[in-house]
Amino acid sequence: MADPVIYLDHQATTPCEPAVVQAMAPWWSEQFANPASRSHRPGLLAAAAVEQARGQIATALGVEPAAVVFTSGATEANNLALKGLAEAELQAGGSRRHLLCLSTEHRAVLDPLRYLSRHGFELTELAVPASGLVDLEQLGQQLRPSTLLVSVMAANNEIGVLQPLGAIAELCRARGIRFHCDGAQAVGHIPLQPAELGIDLLSLSAHKLYGPKGIGVLVVAPGVTLAPQLHGGSQEQGLRAGSLPVPLIVGLAKALELALADQPARAQRLEALREQLWHGIEGLGGVHRNGAAAPRLAHNLNVWIEGVEGSALQRQLRPHLAISSGSACSQGEPSHVLQALGLSRQQASAALRFGLGRHTTAAEIDRAAERVQEAVSALRRA
Ligand SMILES: Cc1ncc(COP(=O)(O)O)c(C=O)c1O
Repeated sequence: MADPVIYLDHQATTPCEPAVVQAMAPWWSEQFANPASRSHRPGLLAAAAVEQARGQIATALGVEPAAVVFTSGATEANNLALKGLAEAELQAGGSRRHLLCLSTEHRAVLDPLRYLSRHGFELTELAVPASGLVDLEQLGQQLRPSTLLVSVMAANNEIGVLQPLGAIAELCRARGIRFHCDGAQAVGHIPLQPAELGIDLLSLSAHKLYGPKGIGVLVVAPGVTLAPQLHGGSQEQGLRAGSLPVPLIVGLAKALELALADQPARAQRLEALREQLWHGIEGLGGVHRNGAAAPRLAHNLNVWIEGVEGSALQRQLRPHLAISSGSACSQGEPSHVLQALGLSRQQASAALRFGLGRHTTAAEIDRAAERVQEAVSALRRA
C-alpha cells in the first residue's frame, strides 16, 4: 500500500484539535440559543459562554475583554481594521490619508488597502530586502504627517520571517500613527502580547492555531475608533453585526489555551525537525532558503530549487506530500512575496513551502526529505 500523504501545509491551515471539537460539541445542538436572546435562560447561558471565552482570550493576549471583537477570521478582521480605521478618519473630519504596508503582506491586507487607495487614500507598499525583514530606517523615512496607518504582519505566511513589531510600534506611536498587525500566522506560535508591543489593532484566526475555521478576532486597543463594516445589529459593541457563532468562539478560546500551553516546547521540537528537513534537502545542491533563516517561525521552511521546473516538481511530489508551492496563494501566479524578495518568476515557481505542525513526526520529515531528493534528482536527470 502506498504511504499516506504527509501533511506539511500548516501555514494554510491546521487540524482542529479533538479537545477543541469536544469543547464545541454542546453548543451546536444542545445549547444552541442565540447569545443575543436575553429574555430566556438558554440565551443567557450562551451569552455567558461567549463572555467566558472572550475573557479567556483577552487574558491570554494581555488585553481587556472589551478589546476582543469576534469576526469570521483574519480576512474580516483585517478588513474591519483597515477600512474601519480609514472610514472613521473620514467621518471624524481628519486629514490623514496616507497608508503604508509591506509589499509582502497577505492579500487579506493588500486588497483592502488597495481598495482604499482607489477611494481617496494613498498607499505605500514598502519593498523589503531579500531577507524579507522590514528595513526600519526606510520605513521611518516613508512616514509622513499625513500617515494614518501602518500595517505589518507579525509572521509572513509564505516565508515565516518575523517582523520587529515593537520597533515598528515605536516609530508609529511617536508620530500618532495607528499600527495594525496581521497576526494570523503568529498568535499561538510565538509569544505575542499586543498591548505590551504597542499594537493598536491585531488580527488573528482560529484555524491557524488548531482551532475551527470561520472564527477570528480583531483586538482593538482602547481609544481606537473604527467604523463598522457590517451593518445589521448591535453585536460586538456595534462594530460587527451578526449572530455570534457560539461553538466557534468556545473553540477558539480552547484552541488558544492549548496553543499557548505547548507553544515553547512545540516551537523547540519543530525547529529541530525543520532543520532536519533542511539538512535532508540542501545536500542536493542548488537549494536556497527564501527569507532570513532567523528570526522566523520555527515550523516554516521555504526554499527554491535550481534546475527544476516548478510545475513538474509539484506533479512529482503531489502523490506524497501536501505542501504549498511558490504559486499556491495566487491561483497559478508566482508568489508576490517571493518576487518581492528578488526571485524571478521562474525561481519563484520552483519554490516549496513546508509548514510543519504539532503532530508532524521525525519519520515523516525523513520521508518528506527523501521524496524531495528523489523528485529533484529525477527531474534534473531528465
Ligand atoms: C497572514 C494571513 N492573514 C490572513 C489570512 C486569512 O485568514 P482567514 O482564513 O482567517 O480569513 C491568512 C490565511 O491564509 C494569513 O496567512
